Amino acid sequence: MGGTFTKGLQALSKKIQDDSSRDPLDDPPVPAPPDPRLPLTAKQVFNISKSWKGIARAMETTGITMFVKLFEENEDLITLFKKFQYLQTQESRMESLELAQHASIVMTTLDEGIRSLDKVDYLIDYLHSVGKFHTKIAGFRKENFWRIEKPFLAAVKETLGDRYTENMENIYKITIRFILETLSKGFDLADEEKKENEVLTNNI
Ligand code: HEM
Repeated sequence: MGGTFTKGLQALSKKIQDDSSRDPLDDPPVPAPPDPRLPLTAKQVFNISKSWKGIARAMETTGITMFVKLFEENEDLITLFKKFQYLQTQESRMESLELAQHASIVMTTLDEGIRSLDKVDYLIDYLHSVGKFHTKIAGFRKENFWRIEKPFLAAVKETLGDRYTENMENIYKITIRFILETLSKGFDLADEEKKENEVLTNNI
């Protein structure tokens, strides 16, 4: 009993000595380990969160640029958008209220995603639900998600100008790929659920 008490005191005294010899400036707090599902380091999350403020201030313009580029490179995709499939030229697309509204909704989704990089459970659930929503769009295939990768990066580059450094380009690439993978996964999950429900209904 006495021995245990003495050992405890010795350990406490050693801890006090160790703590008092530590200079808080030399030894910053260790950041929480990153969530293994997120392909970004804590520093990269910090950098993109800061950089994204430049996009958040110009969300609508960045969104319109992204969609105009998407349709420029993938003319076939515009037929999926009932509200503005009739827009034939780049000028009419740039000026369309319907396209601007849709671009804002998609950019707001990306904004919510990038603001939630530190809440990975929420982020994944959120992106899965947006991915699932796309199974309701007639003619939409999950491969379509990937077609927005290049237009997204080009639009971000256009908005950020000099602030789009090589390092930021790399971080934006990793981030958009993660977002698109998670949207695709949500799309697959909804498809699987649909098939399971069909089997269940056929067996009743
Ligand atoms: C960054 C990736 C994307 C995100 C975050 C996203 C997000 C969304 C959201 C939130 C909606 C619901 C809009 C509403 O409620 O009005 C939506 C609708 C839709 N999305 Fe996406 N989307 C993405 C990529 C794409 C791509 C690449 C296509 C290309 C074909 C696409 C096609 C559509 C269509 C056709 C609709 C329905 C529009 C309507 O009829 O109102 N999405 N998307």
